[in-house]
Amino acid sequence: MGRKFFVGGNWKCNGTTEEVKKIVNVLNEGQVPSQDVIEVVISPPFVFLPVVKDLLWPDFHVRTQNCWVKKGGAFTGEVSAEMLLNLGIPWVILGHSERRFILNESNEFVGDKVKYALSQGLKVITCVGETLEQREAGSTMDVVASQTKAIAERVSDWSNIVLAYEPVWAIGNGKVATPAQAQEVHSELRKWLHANTSPEVVIYGGSVNGANCKELAAQPDVDGFLVGGASLKLEFIDIIKSAE
Ligand code: G3P
Repeated sequence: MGRKFFVGGNWKCNGTTEEVKKIVNVLNEGQVPSQDVIEVVISPPFVFLPVVKDLLWPDFHVRTQNCWVKKGGAFTGEVSAEMLLNLGIPWVILGHSERRFILNESNEFVGDKVKYALSQGLKVITCVGETLEQREAGSTMDVVASQTKAIAERVSDWSNIVLAYEPVWAIGNGKVATPAQAQEVHSELRKWLHANTSPEVVIYGGSVNGANCKELAAQPDVDGFLVGGASLKLEFIDIIKSAE
């Protein structure tokens, strides 16, 4: 494939210490390609960060699923970028659709979070994506462009950002976007990034699994995946290797 591939595993709000140790063992034994071919970043829930970081082999990076929008302090329940760096965690996911829709994180709030996390030295995967209603209304690109613009208005250097296109209608339900649908949005996003910031890494998320990953990975503008459910299963190794 030539280009470096990026695969993120987002475990969301799942797992027990025993289950996490089993998944880490599968990953360590998985003989995934070297980091110069594929970058694999694993996002456990906060409570499992230390054990995953301790047990996961250095072939993988560890990442959190969120962090606070400013320096730590009187913000009950939040985790700051500084704390993550202190724990040696280099990556964070910001703006996942489940936080945009369940916790009402606005485009502007996500943009502020991305700006602050980058300013503290974290690398960021930030998610954009439309709902089924928005797609059926023909406003997919308007939606993902406005989500991306809210970040571009705050951040000019995208060298430490990975943009994840995650159509909300494809998340967690097996209704994966077709390769053509993914390629269309990725290509338009790449054009938008070229025109407004710089062409960076654009990955796809939404019901990626061991059966559909090869065809999606073959799309010229799909630089990798952000995987939910399947990242907790053996087939995640197949997804990682789909770039080979
Ligand atoms: O962040 C990745 C996630 O939203 C995709 O979930 O279960 O559809 O792979 P899933």
